[in-house]
Amino acid sequence: MKRASVTTVITFLGLLAIAGGWRHLASARVAAGGEQVIRLTAKKFEYTPNEITLKKGVPVIVEITSVDRDHGFKVPELGVRADIKPGETTRVPIVPDRVGRFEFRCDVFCGSGHEDMAGEFIVVD
Ligand code: CUA
Repeated sequence: MKRASVTTVITFLGLLAIAGGWRHLASARVAAGGEQVIRLTAKKFEYTPNEITLKKGVPVIVEITSVDRDHGFKVPELGVRADIKPGETTRVPIVPDRVGRFEFRCDVFCGSGHEDMAGEFIVVD
């Protein structure tokens, strides 16, 4: 009896791992123009994921959706800014032209945690 339940747990964990793998593949799909598409979710008061690694010189499209209310998306050092609205997908093209860490943050006031709503692009060679 005990052995059976251990097997069940292992099977369940295996299925979770497979589902996680599929999700990873789905989020790394490629746009019609050949750019990699990175999906980002915005909500009070965070972006998911909030740390994204890019390769220098490789253009990407960041697809952002909000799950609650209006937010902003601003990357001052890369000259990028966009409004993020619930129920809509905002597509932001980015060409990371230099190596470094570039903060993105919300620039539409969205409540008590607005100031902390931020993340980072890490551009590597
Ligand atoms: Cu989200 Cu301010």
